[in-house]
Amino acid sequence: MSTTTLSQGDSGVGVKNGINAFGKKNFIGTFAPPFAVINDFDLLASLTARDKRAGYVEAVKVALIRDGNFFETIEQDAERLRDFDSAAMERLIRRCAELHVHHIATSGDPFEFGSARPLDFGHWAAHKLEQLSEYAIRHGEAVAIGIALDTIYSRKIGCLDSASAGRVLNLLEQLGFELFANELLNVDSDNNLMVLKGLEEFREHLGGRLTITLLKAIGQGLEVHEVSLPKVIESIYEVQQRHQRRAKRVLLAHG
Ligand SMILES: NC(=O)c1ccc[n+]([C@@H]2O[C@H](COP(=O)([O-])OP(=O)(O)OC[C@H]3O[C@@H](n4cnc5c(N)ncnc54)[C@H](O)[C@@H]3O)[C@@H](O)[C@H]2O)c1
Ligand SMILES: [Zn+2]
Repeated sequence: MSTTTLSQGDSGVGVKNGINAFGKKNFIGTFAPPFAVINDFDLLASLTARDKRAGYVEAVKVALIRDGNFFETIEQDAERLRDFDSAAMERLIRRCAELHVHHIATSGDPFEFGSARPLDFGHWAAHKLEQLSEYAIRHGEAVAIGIALDTIYSRKIGCLDSASAGRVLNLLEQLGFELFANELLNVDSDNNLMVLKGLEEFREHLGGRLTITLLKAIGQGLEVHEVSLPKVIESIYEVQQRHQRRAKRVLLAHG
């Protein structure tokens, strides 16, 4: 019985069950298909605004790689979702859960033996950011930043047109997500950006070849096996610039 927006739309309808232990996330767990999953929308009423919102991003994610019409529905519902309108939240959770179930049931790899994880679009940076923030950044919030980076990256390498990339960034912001966190700029003793280690850790986690999902269009993912670090760094710079411009506008608006 899932009790958060995120678990009702995504993690609760899958086959992975994990609990945090010894200071590590999802340290102990099983892979087991459920007999049934109960999503009771009334449970969401007591969530904090942050936890209500955090789950939206998995819907944006799956819409981006699988279902352009769903992305448009989320755009149309953006104001309502921002205000946590229950009908809009239910529409989002239902379609998000359907798309995740559909993937698990038909991808041919429900237990994730292969090294491709299309549903982990935007997640390589996200996992690392959660860790760098010592989990002060929620999973969903980290994924919003990860999606922003991989969307900008997709545009920079000529895979995605700039109008579509702009729509993605605008929607995430309209839903109330920040697209930048200071942890993106953390460096190690050799002055290397620590978030970039997320790529290698993602590859290790996949257990083989690096496979990253990018965007070809809204509703269409593309798997790649190579990543240009300079372009990733440019993408980080771009979300930072965007964040600063927004902060400036807010300050100016307040006189
Ligand atoms: N297994 C998968 O396929 C998969 C997919 C996506 C995400 N995840 C993982 O799921 C985790 C995020 O899950 P989550 O967002 O459900 O977080 P969570 O379980 O940490 O819950 C977030 C917060 O909400 C509180 N809470 C939960 N239900 C509540 C309710 N009904 N009313 C009031 N408070 C409530 C919790 O106590 C917690 O403080 C992340 O660790 C992420 O990595 C796993
Ligand atoms: Zn996720």
